[in-house]
Amino acid sequence: MNIHESAEDYLEAILMINERSGRVRSIDVVEELGYSKPSISIAMKHLRENGYITMDNEGYITLTGSGFEIAQRIYTRHRLLTRFLTGLGVSAEAAAADACKIEHDLSEEAFDKLTRYAASSVTPEENMYRRRSVRAFTAEAVSAADAESLLRCAMAAPSACNRRPWEFYVVRSAEKLEALRAATRYTDYNAPLIVVVAGNTARSAGGETGFWVQDCSAAAENLLLEADALGLGACWCGIYPGVTAVKRVRRVLSLPEEIVPLALIHVGHPAESPEPRTQYEPDKVHTPD
Ligand SMILES: Cc1cc2nc3c(=O)[nH]c(=O)nc-3n(C[C@H](O)[C@H](O)[C@H](O)COP(=O)(O)O)c2cc1C
Repeated sequence: MNIHESAEDYLEAILMINERSGRVRSIDVVEELGYSKPSISIAMKHLRENGYITMDNEGYITLTGSGFEIAQRIYTRHRLLTRFLTGLGVSAEAAAADACKIEHDLSEEAFDKLTRYAASSVTPEENMYRRRSVRAFTAEAVSAADAESLLRCAMAAPSACNRRPWEFYVVRSAEKLEALRAATRYTDYNAPLIVVVAGNTARSAGGETGFWVQDCSAAAENLLLEADALGLGACWCGIYPGVTAVKRVRRVLSLPEEIVPLALIHVGHPAESPEPRTQYEPDKVHTPD
């Protein structure tokens, strides 16, 4: 889909404002982009005439399907390019400004290769500091290839006696996502994908009260780290040992008795970027010898 670069900028701005505040009017776009009111008014008129947005009687703007597709593509590029450049040491401000220029012109192929390179060039330390809980997501789907990478990494985790007592439920249907989000009051996020990490107590070293919690937790952490490496966002939401939450998730997924849902992991393209950090506390380090 070829449209003018500035139209892509407007659509991207509309998407960003909508994700931030849930509604968009022309004045919000003026404030976001710093252009004059008349020029934004003309731009919105063109976007409307070309079928990328609609505007209701009160002036609220909604992206159409094709407008949303373009906005999403550019916004994803913007975030990943900014992150790639800041990873190289470019200041956050310069990185964001440069990303704005490059995001329109890179071919799909070059962008895909750059994304893969950026993921592979992250050191384990950066990966661990950068992994933060992300609780706001764009509507962009997580690709099947990325979902498989997450599970490959999860299943590379250590487990007691190498029993690997884990099961993963990959949920994408709107109906099931909604039901899972309601598992607890702390699990209601808008990710397009939830991976339920569950323990198979029949396979666990030590059975029902055995090592499955540790084993599945190691797998869950691997999954979170890979999500970060792929430029995705994720949030671990605890289910077990909450009796009601376990019951609810069990019901949604029709799980048999021996399978215990440990966590819901929300995964998607991030609409927020918490700062990387360690939480190093020297007084938690003990040297008894
Ligand atoms: C066992 C466990 C359960 C968690 N449950 C939830 C939850 O239900 N909802 C949520 O928003 N975050 C949940 N989190 C995420 C933590 O709140 C988060 O990891 C913590 O605040 C540190 O922030 P960070 O992940 O950005 O480093 C959980 C994390 C773990 C390890």
